[in-house]
Amino acid sequence: PKPSILSGKKVLITAGPTREKIDPVRYITNHSTGKMGFSIAEQAMELGADVTLISGPVSLEAPKGAQVIHVESAEDMFNAVMNHYETADIIVKTAAVADYRPKMSYDEKIKKKPGEEVLELERTKDILLELGKRKSTQILVGFAAETSLVEKYAKDKLMKKNADMIVANNVKADGAGFGTDTNIVTIFKKDGTIIPLPIMTKHEVANRLLQEANKMLEEQS
Ligand code: PMT
Repeated sequence: PKPSILSGKKVLITAGPTREKIDPVRYITNHSTGKMGFSIAEQAMELGADVTLISGPVSLEAPKGAQVIHVESAEDMFNAVMNHYETADIIVKTAAVADYRPKMSYDEKIKKKPGEEVLELERTKDILLELGKRKSTQILVGFAAETSLVEKYAKDKLMKKNADMIVANNVKADGAGFGTDTNIVTIFKKDGTIIPLPIMTKHEVANRLLQEANKMLEEQS
């Protein structure tokens, strides 16, 4: 029989990149393909959860049975998450949300001119930070995509964002981060526990982090 430790539980997952519009032909984005987030959604379905997946633009097929909400910008993702977080038991913020967006976006294509052009950027809303402020009993899992000082930044995020768990990956390491089918992560828990994991498939990472999140959920009830 299938294990169904998450049966009756709601899991909200964000995945993929966001796209920040400059004009109708240009945007700012990052390398996220959605593989990590979609793997978590698939595992959560297999473990019996009721899954809502909020995804930026990716070319992956969503797991059957999940409620999928497609968004484009960080602002769209913020709004979709705020509409769905309240009833969730576990929230996993895998999405690579843009930290900046163009201060102005244009409805007509910007024509090129001789010389340099400066693009002014402004900060987007921090979804994880806002969830950390608003959450009640939800187990809040954030990711940290770093290129150095992974442990320091992961611990900072755990504290500053009031998360229950941070899953950190060094996106410069071979077999980890963007686009790969594998990842190398370290899990940092609120109680100070640190779990370094070897290279695993993104599905295995997903399973492990959901097991840990579920343990925390059970411990608090
Ligand atoms: O999609 P793949 O190709 O499989 O790649 C997987 C991944 C590298 C994208 C994934 O493993 C990962 O690390 N995701 C987090 C990417 C990220 O944006 O990390 P960050 O360290 O910049 O942000 C930290 C946390 O804050 C994340 O949980 C992020 O969702 C959240 N955040 C960031 C900015 C913002 N405005 N709002 C947020 O909620």
